[in-house]
Amino acid sequence: MVNNLDKVKQKFIEKLGSVNNEEELENLKVEFLGKSGEVTNLLKAIKDIPNDQKKEYGALVNTLKNEIDAELNKYKTLLEEKKLEEELKNTKVVDLTIPLNECTGSLHPITVTQHKLIEIFTSMGFIVEDGNEVETEYNNFEAVNIPKHHPARDMQDTFYLSNGQLLKTHTSAAQNRIMKKYGAPLKVIFPGRCFRNEQLDASHENTFFQCEGMMIDKDISISNLIYFMKQMLSSVFGKELNVRLRPGFFPFVEPGFELDCSCPYCGGKGCNVCKQGGWIELCPCGMIHPEVLKMGGIDINKYQGFAFGLGLSRLTMMNFNIKDIRLLNGGNLKVLSQTKVK
Ligand code: PHE
Repeated sequence: MVNNLDKVKQKFIEKLGSVNNEEELENLKVEFLGKSGEVTNLLKAIKDIPNDQKKEYGALVNTLKNEIDAELNKYKTLLEEKKLEEELKNTKVVDLTIPLNECTGSLHPITVTQHKLIEIFTSMGFIVEDGNEVETEYNNFEAVNIPKHHPARDMQDTFYLSNGQLLKTHTSAAQNRIMKKYGAPLKVIFPGRCFRNEQLDASHENTFFQCEGMMIDKDISISNLIYFMKQMLSSVFGKELNVRLRPGFFPFVEPGFELDCSCPYCGGKGCNVCKQGGWIELCPCGMIHPEVLKMGGIDINKYQGFAFGLGLSRLTMMNFNIKDIRLLNGGNLKVLSQTKVK
């Protein structure tokens, strides 16, 4: 009889080795511990054991039963773990507790500044428009009062395409299209990328950004321009800055000005940024020339307007204390990571 116990144990061990899943394990359990299972039969056989050996025999079968039970449980856990592992392998797990990689991207400093300008001007009722980067000669020059052979074209040499179009030299190239699209009254800003054939140095790039603005309405004067410029500056720099106008020539404004602001870094006392002058040249501007308004389909007997061309790249350099304009387009991650706005 005791031999039988060993045989059953051996048989169980062999069978357990070939179990592959929970269903097979369950079947094995029934086969050995079920109502008419192998171990149960051994227990039933106790009636054939001589009385003096019954106790010992019973104890042995019970031990075997417990051992088999324990083995089955152990194997069950093993199968469950394997199944989970398999599932994890086939599922994409997102662990929200893992710290974010420090190398995640961020907005370019120019974009950050542009977003800020958009926020400020839209809060004052301006709409935002876009301009083309590839423009017609008409939009870039003629429509802003720079006819062929005008010397002002020399200062804005650019890249011409074989079809006669060009890469726009200033955001003003969108003035005509926007005037025709909306008519008057109009309050609009239009940021964009501009191109010029430049000798490159720390303050000249072949690709740079401007943010132009126009306001056309009845009774518009330079005071309106000054008001909006001051609002914009105090929002960008977080403090009230003085502005001054110097005469400046642009064929599409009359009168035309260069708007300077008092240096936000030294308060006008003189420092490296303002080259000791206390003022920073920020933004050419002026009253839109009547010819330009006319070409844009605006009734000049009713309406006047101002326009300004903020140097977005320059404002960004001031805002982030970047000394060389070439760093802005260089794509150098060491630079960009320092201008990351969290
Ligand atoms: N378009 C001019 C430039 O790029 C700037 C400007 C815009 C001047 C609007 C006056 C008014 O030089």
